[in-house]
Amino acid sequence: MNTAPTETDPTRSMHPETLGRVPGRGRLQGRRVLVIGAGQRVIPEESPPVGNGRAISLLFAREGAQVVCADISEDAARQTAEAVREEGGTAFVEVIDVNDAAAIAPLVQRAHKLLGGLDGLVLNVGISHGLPLDQLTVEAWDKEYSVNVRSHMVFAQAALEVMAPGGSIVLMSSLASLRNSSRNPAYESSKAAQVSLARSIAVAGESKGIRGNSIQPGLMDTPMGRDATRRRPNRAMAVPFGRQGTGWEVAYAALYLISHESSYVNGHALLIDGGLAIGVTRAA
Ligand SMILES: NC(=O)c1ccc[n+]([C@@H]2O[C@H](COP(=O)([O-])OP(=O)(O)OC[C@H]3O[C@@H](n4cnc5c(N)ncnc54)[C@H](O)[C@@H]3O)[C@@H](O)[C@H]2O)c1
Repeated sequence: MNTAPTETDPTRSMHPETLGRVPGRGRLQGRRVLVIGAGQRVIPEESPPVGNGRAISLLFAREGAQVVCADISEDAARQTAEAVREEGGTAFVEVIDVNDAAAIAPLVQRAHKLLGGLDGLVLNVGISHGLPLDQLTVEAWDKEYSVNVRSHMVFAQAALEVMAPGGSIVLMSSLASLRNSSRNPAYESSKAAQVSLARSIAVAGESKGIRGNSIQPGLMDTPMGRDATRRRPNRAMAVPFGRQGTGWEVAYAALYLISHESSYVNGHALLIDGGLAIGVTRAA
């Protein structure tokens, strides 16, 4: 008789990589990368999980890249850069509010100068007001589009000017770009726009040998994910493998797309959702 447990044991799908506990393997040796939204939000918890932007910066440096950590919060960017340096990596701090479109090209040029070139750009910054359609305001809509889409377009324009051939641009979209179940239309539609924008970047970058791709994380246990879970406590009831994803799992996807390992991957949207989008759910 089969006595296998029917409840999913989350540890079966957890590995040292899942928790960011693997030493670097030199996968980004010599790459020079600018990460936008490299800090992480502060939540009222003693040991908050790592966010996507911080995990990306830490992992990239561990794998041999030099990183510029840019954020609206100087404190948050500094904490990321300090964590990188504690591991022996190289990180610079830049402060920017990406709503200020005129500040974007100068930041890209400063990063290019600081790093002696630019091979990678990760556009991780993203916000959500969490307002359903009947409560959405024009102001909230414009703010989300300014941060989530407009700034990405302006960053890509500036990066394509200075990036070396072999460069790679990654936009942090979301599973929400495919599923509108979170009743959060400004966020969902702006995340869908990012997928399309990444394809446009791929088209524009082709003649320069520069690629553009997007990542669609699903339900992730990051500070942002915990904020979303507080708003909708049942959002992660049936997650695959009985757990939400980690910032490290998003960071490994970004690492692949920024490295030459993905040299023929272009205009792609990479789901990091444990299979949720195709109907994989936790065993009952
Ligand atoms: N649950 C999840 O974590 C999840 C799931 C799917 C997609 N995503 C996407 O991942 C990205 C964020 O992940 P995170 O874990 O790093 O989130 P986070 O909120 O912890 O970090 C985002 C960082 O962006 C910074 N930021 C906010 N507004 C800014 C502005 N105007 N200018 C410059 N910086 C600004 C914040 O200070 C913060 O440090 C977003 O694009 C989000 O849509 C997250």
